[in-house]
Amino acid sequence: MTPLNSVITNSAKRITYSAAQAARVLWYTGHYMAGRRMVGPLTEPGEAPYADEFGPLDRARLKTAFRGLFKTDWQNIEAGIYKLPLDMRQPPSPAKLWRQSRDYLRDASKVARRKHVRGHSEVLTPARQEKYPRYFLQNFHYQTDGWMTASSADRYDMQVETLFTGSAGAMRRQALPAIRKALAGRDAGAARLLDLGCGAGRFLGEVKDNWSSLEATALDLSPAYLGKARANLGRWKDITYVEANAEATGLPDASFDVITAIYLFHELPPAVRKIIAKEISRLLKPGGTLIQVDTIQYGDEPGFDTLLENFPRGFHEPYYDSYCRADLKALFGDAGVQHTEETIAFLSKVSVFEKL
Ligand SMILES: C[S@@+](CC[C@H](N)C(=O)[O-])C[C@H]1O[C@@H](n2cnc3c(N)ncnc32)[C@H](O)[C@@H]1O
Repeated sequence: MTPLNSVITNSAKRITYSAAQAARVLWYTGHYMAGRRMVGPLTEPGEAPYADEFGPLDRARLKTAFRGLFKTDWQNIEAGIYKLPLDMRQPPSPAKLWRQSRDYLRDASKVARRKHVRGHSEVLTPARQEKYPRYFLQNFHYQTDGWMTASSADRYDMQVETLFTGSAGAMRRQALPAIRKALAGRDAGAARLLDLGCGAGRFLGEVKDNWSSLEATALDLSPAYLGKARANLGRWKDITYVEANAEATGLPDASFDVITAIYLFHELPPAVRKIIAKEISRLLKPGGTLIQVDTIQYGDEPGFDTLLENFPRGFHEPYYDSYCRADLKALFGDAGVQHTEETIAFLSKVSVFEKL
């Protein structure tokens, strides 16, 4: 490509990115505000206020970090580290957006009712208890049906993007530079990647869009979410779907070059985090890379600590506070996976580790 062509292509991409990202932020912020109005304040009438440990939210810093995420996202696209996201190249149809919006808003009133009565264990039934660990059988975020049904899996991406006012995709993408680094100088087609707790498959879609020949495994304990991932990822080949507990996957030792775990660890009790860290260590090849993306932790952005403190109070996240206090270097280091680098991406942190 000539330099002039490249400037034109980049300008067109930049316009597409800016317009698409601005539209996303408006769309999801509108839904966020509507949802917040239904859910109301953190405490119920008559309840004592929470005893806050941290100072006020630094709103100016929050806005700067939000904009900074999109600036970094664009710079990565411009530098060719990853592609302009697929959902910006092929935006969803108005009919699809309308369906998602209607479903989200109808469900938000159920989420609000559940929050008012602290209804976080509706999915706990004797039959499910025989099959799943207790910690898994909760209505995390007070979401309808927890991880248990196809309709919950259908709604999940809209809920996450709304929660983060259109920044979730960009935060997840900040794991892609670490994948590029892990695959540098190698044939991607000969490498194997495992996405643990893949959910509806959004992140793996970004991975396959950038490295289509990579052999990928999508693992989740929820058959409904794994089914949604299969549907979302249908256009790509070389993906194996595994319904299993990340604590004991049944996959062979030293079989992956890269393992990713996106927004999984804050959903797990501390003891289970240790078990899964050991399982990851067992599954990685020596020199292999773990890329863990999850919430920032206390002290990463001191002006946001109050946000981290309040999030689990409003969204039923029983293990979130302990995750925000966890020593990730020790958690994975004790399992034989050494911390190498980390990047803060707005409200998320990308932590990279190497199997010794
Ligand atoms: C918050 S979602 C994250 C999904 C996805 N990675 C993303 O970026 O949106 C957590 C996912 O982890 C799955 N999960 C939770 N505990 C698990 C476990 N012990 N083993 C496997 N999957 C688990 C849930 O079913 C859910 O799909």
